[in-house]
Amino acid sequence: MTTLAQKPEIHEGLKGVYFATSEASFIDGEVGKLLYRGYDIHDLAEKSTFEESVHLLLHEKLPTRAELAAFDRELKANRALPEPVIQVIRLVKDAHPMDVLRTAVSALAAFDPDTEVKYDRGNPQPFTEATFRKGIRLTAQAPTIVAAHQRIRSGLEPLAPRNDLSQAANFLYMMFGKEPDPDDARLVDVDLVLHLEHGSNASSFAARVAASTLADLHCAVVAGIGTLKGPAHGGAAEAVMQMCLDVGDPDKIEGYLEDRLNRGERVMGFGHRVYRAEDPRARHLRERSHQLGNKKGQPQWYQMLELIEKRMERYQSRGIFVNVDFFAGSVYYLLGIPEDMFVPMFALGRVPGWVLQCLEHYAAPELLRPLTWYTGPMDLPYVPIDQRS
Ligand code: COA
Repeated sequence: MTTLAQKPEIHEGLKGVYFATSEASFIDGEVGKLLYRGYDIHDLAEKSTFEESVHLLLHEKLPTRAELAAFDRELKANRALPEPVIQVIRLVKDAHPMDVLRTAVSALAAFDPDTEVKYDRGNPQPFTEATFRKGIRLTAQAPTIVAAHQRIRSGLEPLAPRNDLSQAANFLYMMFGKEPDPDDARLVDVDLVLHLEHGSNASSFAARVAASTLADLHCAVVAGIGTLKGPAHGGAAEAVMQMCLDVGDPDKIEGYLEDRLNRGERVMGFGHRVYRAEDPRARHLRERSHQLGNKKGQPQWYQMLELIEKRMERYQSRGIFVNVDFFAGSVYYLLGIPEDMFVPMFALGRVPGWVLQCLEHYAAPELLRPLTWYTGPMDLPYVPIDQRS
């Protein structure tokens, strides 16, 4: 009979476990501080753009004007999808947009010019360079996938990306078929910056696990997309907006919240595994949600959010504060983005973060393989099938 060793300490949910070092982002959950490569998220959200912040993450520095122009050209040159991938999107058009994004990214691997470059421990440089190029392509192609899917499922033809528009503006153009209001484009731009990178969140961890096996970047990004889809991670923005739509009237929100909290249910858009203070990203969407609601003649959504935030203040003593998803849903809704595309919006921002964390992991490729403590029976006798009851 095998003797079981003493049960080790189990870190449920890997809470509080450090497994790697990273230069991508710093989070201080106690005070609500977030830095990308040392730069404060507040500065980046207000002063930077998606293109500039992605350059910071992937090229490890804020770009000069010339560097930014070159990087922007590179992103723009990689936006189009191979025609067979558009055919794949047509085939799966009735699936959830996250499933379509996951499937299309998977299909893109088959057409990627660097698909044959394999990891070589003796000479990892070609693989690293290929991964970097793939990362640029995936960052540029992801919005084209999401917009093409939306057009196809609406019975419209996908639009070719426009190279005179920023990543955010071009995405809105490809979605809605007209050049966007500059304020709307800037709002999406800020939203993308806010979602770029966030430490070892579940989807970045999943991407790293795939990268740790030396699987290629497309595999890792597919793992990230699949993990982000879950309601405990990327789905909260949609749930918040759904709550507002269900309630429908700011006067009814108090009663709705009381009922919900009395039933012990969570209020979406509050709480975070890491933050015990306000999520620093939330502030940049709070006022923008307010302004956009007024501009679109729909102030009721922000009014409801304000009332919910007020009611939830009493949870702050338990470390439960508003998170980035709380205001994101109303912003997407007011921009006309369908609710099932709120999670893909998050993914469009997060692709560069996944890419960066995979690059970090490939640079020091340690297989991620934790342990589970077996609690089942031991050494059972094998009974032939005819003798089993
Ligand atoms: N509303 C009400 N209570 C909440 C809450 C919320 N949004 N989030 C956490 N809590 C409570 C839990 O009920 C639990 O209470 P208990 O100790 O009395 O059982 C306590 O706070 C700790 O929750 P726990 O799930 O252990 O914390 P976590 O760190 O694992 O969870 C989240 C983090 C994000 C999964 C959780 O806060 C949540 O479900 N939030 C709503 C979904 C959301 O907004 N997700 C987006 C995150 S960016």
